[in-house]
Amino acid sequence: MIAGVRKAVGAATPYVPGKTVEEVRRELGLQKIVKLGSNENPYGPFPAARRAMTEEIARINTYPDVSFHEIKSLIGERFGLGPEWVAISHGAEGMLQTLGKVFLEPGDEAILSRATYGLYREISLVMGATLKEIMLKDDLSVNLREMERAITGRTKLLWLNNPNNPTGMLLPKKSVENLAKRLPRGVWLVLDEAYAEFASPEELPSVAKLLEAECGLIVVRTFSKAWGLAGARIGYALARPEMVRIIDTVSEPFNANRIAIAGASASLKEDEEAFNQALAATVRERERVTKALRDMGGETLPSHTNFVFVTFQADAGEVSGKLLRKGVIVRPCGGWGFGSSLRVTVGTPEQNDFFLGALRGVLAGDGEGGA
Ligand SMILES: Cc1ncc(COP(=O)(O)O)c(C=O)c1O
Repeated sequence: MIAGVRKAVGAATPYVPGKTVEEVRRELGLQKIVKLGSNENPYGPFPAARRAMTEEIARINTYPDVSFHEIKSLIGERFGLGPEWVAISHGAEGMLQTLGKVFLEPGDEAILSRATYGLYREISLVMGATLKEIMLKDDLSVNLREMERAITGRTKLLWLNNPNNPTGMLLPKKSVENLAKRLPRGVWLVLDEAYAEFASPEELPSVAKLLEAECGLIVVRTFSKAWGLAGARIGYALARPEMVRIIDTVSEPFNANRIAIAGASASLKEDEEAFNQALAATVRERERVTKALRDMGGETLPSHTNFVFVTFQADAGEVSGKLLRKGVIVRPCGGWGFGSSLRVTVGTPEQNDFFLGALRGVLAGDGEGGA
């Protein structure tokens, strides 16, 4: 440990991102690379966002509107809430960091699922909190009942990702709503809905109602996934106005950039058609890829996201290494405790065919050659 660095920082480990196309090209010298490792949207950015971001470059010498009024209003409208219920951030990731700073101090407990988005763990540890990690149920769904049971007088936060990364599974709406309603005062549920747009709206918890009922809930969402703006880095939280004021105070003042705000606002105003088409294509392909994986002998989980979790009777690290040499980037799930499972982003039909063809080859034992 370097002298002077906070002790809690030593407990954290670096976030492991999916491999980038640039990295794979550099390391393996391949021409064709299909990246299905980071749950990005192959159809974005949508046309209005692209236009608005290009135009906004001319204004990049000035700071963004620090009140984020327009974008907050546009987001709020979608949930039937006013702009004062919305906080903006540099990706959902930025919001999660801010929430860690708002709530966690040394000695506090944070409860999370053993297999979920990795950042909750690191953020909690850096803030000096103690983790309580709850195993998934036998069907690999998040064990909400055990998460609730784990609450003690020292608990501050429950980090919940729904639908969950890496499994893609969605919790029953009622069980999330009931948990939010039952939380003791001073215990907060951070509900990360980064992939919610890929699920059926009627199956998602009614977050506006829960917030209006003064539940200890903060909802986190992002433009990185269904809206196709991962590189722009913009996310947001829905929370009660008094909590939004706290979040906005703790975040850095200009925590979303002009280009991202322009793109996200334009998409919300004018990209509905492109958004819906991309969503429908992803859901269609998700079902096709799931079926193809099953036909190859894979065990899949029901996905409500833009990725599929699949298990084969094989070492996932080896399978993903062989896929990489054929130009396909996927995410092996050993780090989450699933040594035989892969998380595969749903791409375009052409990308998915390339992946399925490569996987067929790997499973048939021709893993060492090129595709
Ligand atoms: C569950 C979950 N939450 C948050 C994020 C971060 O999203 P963003 O790109 O908005 O920072 C991700 C990214 O993969 C994610 O999977």
